[in-house]
Formats: sequence, structure tokens, C-alpha cells
Amino acid sequence: MSNSLEKIKSSLQHKITAQIKQKGAISFAEFMRMVLYEPGLGYYSAGLFKFGVEGDFVTSSELGTLFAQCHARCFAEILPNLTKPVVFELGAGSGRFCADVLVALAAMECLPDEYWILEVSADLKLTQQNAINALPEDLAKRVRWLDAPPHDSFEGVVYANEVLDALPVEVFQCIENKYQRLMLTDVGGELTEEWQDFSPELLSQLEQKKLSLPNGYRSEFIPNLAAWMESITECLSKGIVLMVDYGYGRPVYYHPQRNKGTLVCHRRHQANFNPYQDVGLQDITAFVEFTTVAESMEVVGLEVCGFTTQADFLINSGIDQSIDPSGDYQSYFKKVTEMKKLVMPEEMGEKFKVIAAQKNLSIELSGFKVNHWQTL
Ligand SMILES: C[S@@+](CC[C@H](N)C(=O)[O-])C[C@H]1O[C@@H](n2cnc3c(N)ncnc32)[C@H](O)[C@@H]1O
Repeated sequence: MSNSLEKIKSSLQHKITAQIKQKGAISFAEFMRMVLYEPGLGYYSAGLFKFGVEGDFVTSSELGTLFAQCHARCFAEILPNLTKPVVFELGAGSGRFCADVLVALAAMECLPDEYWILEVSADLKLTQQNAINALPEDLAKRVRWLDAPPHDSFEGVVYANEVLDALPVEVFQCIENKYQRLMLTDVGGELTEEWQDFSPELLSQLEQKKLSLPNGYRSEFIPNLAAWMESITECLSKGIVLMVDYGYGRPVYYHPQRNKGTLVCHRRHQANFNPYQDVGLQDITAFVEFTTVAESMEVVGLEVCGFTTQADFLINSGIDQSIDPSGDYQSYFKKVTEMKKLVMPEEMGEKFKVIAAQKNLSIELSGFKVNHWQTL
């Protein structure tokens, strides 16, 4: 491992240990927040290369332009119904999705007035700014980075791809029908797991899921999801919230056989299940439990209007329209390979889901011609 990576790892470990010395045991969610987002040190904040073929994982937006083009067709069904429409993207990664969507919307003559990005990583914000600065001026000038969720009311599309899975999770176990919260402490310089009671607030969020779990069951949930949803959508006066991620509805997510949860770490395209190794150098994520996402949307006054697989969403958003069999063979082959990766069930097609909710708007989006409500 290079010296600079070693340095990041040991500085972050030191910071976590210092936090535990100062505050006592920390929750797994606090640990995950630090290892992913601690300024200058966390996985998303330290300037390490993560996205794409040479990084640690590839998101749908990084595979090529098809994913963004399908979204542009979806956004084009929404934006003309709105006044001064905005696309508001959370966690824009490398900025590629934003750039590709704007190019596609420009070709459809359906550009939003503005495109806002809310990004927690200062380092990724710079990467995004470089990507956007390479766009034609008429597109680049529409993009603005927010430091916090918007304060003033707006009409538009709130969008997030693979952001929910990057939100810190609480880990729990169920012992004799009682929930315990995973906390981390430091024993002789080693991070050590211990179990404590949840606060009444977090316990009630877990109890609201009405789970029936076997003894010793371990899993996770995103704490305060409704509050987060409220913070990003409260100023949306009219429009759609669209979120894409890998995950399942509650019955599958908390299936009795999935008794070790869904946490997974990624480094250089290798998955592992040890979040305590290589802190700051590997991504840690949890699958998304979409029933709670839907409930959180409803709690904050949104009306859930679509839940489907990525495959159905992209196919019904016309993914085949972006592939030209009469063009040159090499680029045709590349596009078909990209499409297969996005829609084949054993690739990203079924693992990834798309959820949509609307506010003061009633339109039937083509992408949700086929819904999978029974799995929510
Ligand atoms: C797995 S990446 C996905 C990036 C991009 N959407 C894509 O599809 O390639 C997760 C992104 O979400 C950002 N992020 C995580 N938590 C966030 C939050 N609470 N608000 C905004 N962005 C967040 C990360 O910094 C990163 O840019």
C-alpha cells in the first residue's frame, strides 16, 4: 500500500479512536459516517479514485450514456408541466450523469432552467465541476452547487442514484424479541463491537417496521430517513422525486434467512464483508429497504406513484431508442453490451429498483408502465 494511503488510513483510525475516547462507544452509523465522509480522510472525501473501470465500483451512470438518456426522456415528460423547472440531483458522483442528462435534454429542447447538485464530498464536488466545465456554456451555466438543501420553493425533479445505499446505517440484532444497537469501542487499540439499548426515538423507528425476526437476527436500517427525505423535498412545491438504488421491499430485505444483514464493502471491484479493515480506503454500503423509503416519502407529503425494477424502468423509457443498429458495428456492440449490463436480471436489471413520488402533479410516467407494488 502506498505511503499516502497508509497515512489516510492511520489518520482516520486515529480520529475514530479519539472520538471514542472523548464520547465513549460510537454507533455503527457514526463509524460509517466517519469512514465515508470525514473531511479529507473519508472514502468519499479523500480524493481517491473510486468510480469507473479503474476505481472500486461502476455505477449505471458510469457505464456510458444510455442510463442518462433514458432519464432524460423521463425528465422530458415532467419538466414541461412545471414553471421554471429545476433538476436537483443529490450525490452526483463524478458529475457524468448531470453532464449526459443535460446534453440529452438539450437535444430534446427540454432543458431545465437550472440543475442543482447537493454533494457532501468537497473532493467530488471539484471532480463534478471539472466535468461540467467541459460542457458547452449554455449547459454548464445552468449547473449550481448547493451547500444545503434548498430554502426556497421550487418546481422540478429531485433525483438520486445510489445515494440511499451510501447513507450511514444503524446495525441491530434481535435477541429474545428485543432490539440491541451495535456500538463500537476501542479495546487495546482494536475496534470492538458491543451491544447496547437503542434510544426510544431510534427504537420506535425500528418497531414501526413490525418485523418478526428469529433470535440472533442481525441487520440494519437507515436512521431518521423521513427527516432526511423531508429536508431534501420540503421546498419542492410541484414535481417528482425519483430514486434509484439496489435493494428490496421489506419482506425480502428482512427475510428470516437474510440473518446477517446486507452490509457490503467494495475495493477495486472486490466485495468483502469486513467494514473494519482498510478504513477510508474501501466503500461501505447497505442495500436499501424500499418499503421504508416509500413510507418516508408518504410521511413528508409525497405520493408514491411508481416502484419498479431498473430493467423495466429503462426498457419502458426507451433504452432501445438510443441504440442504432445501422451505425458502425463497434459502437453498436458497445451500446448493446452497456444495455445488457443495465437491464439483464443477473446484472443490474433486477437488483436495482426505481421509486417515484409526486407532489401536486399527476402524470403517468412511461418508465413506470410496469410496477412491482407486490414486492414493496
Ligand atoms: C455511490 S455514489 C453515487 C454517485 C452517482 N450518483 C452515480 O450514480 O455515479 C454516492 C454519492 O452520494 C454522495 N452522498 C452521500 N450522502 C449524501 C447526502 N446525504 N447528500 C448528498 N450526497 C450524498 C456521495 O458523496 C457520492 O457522490
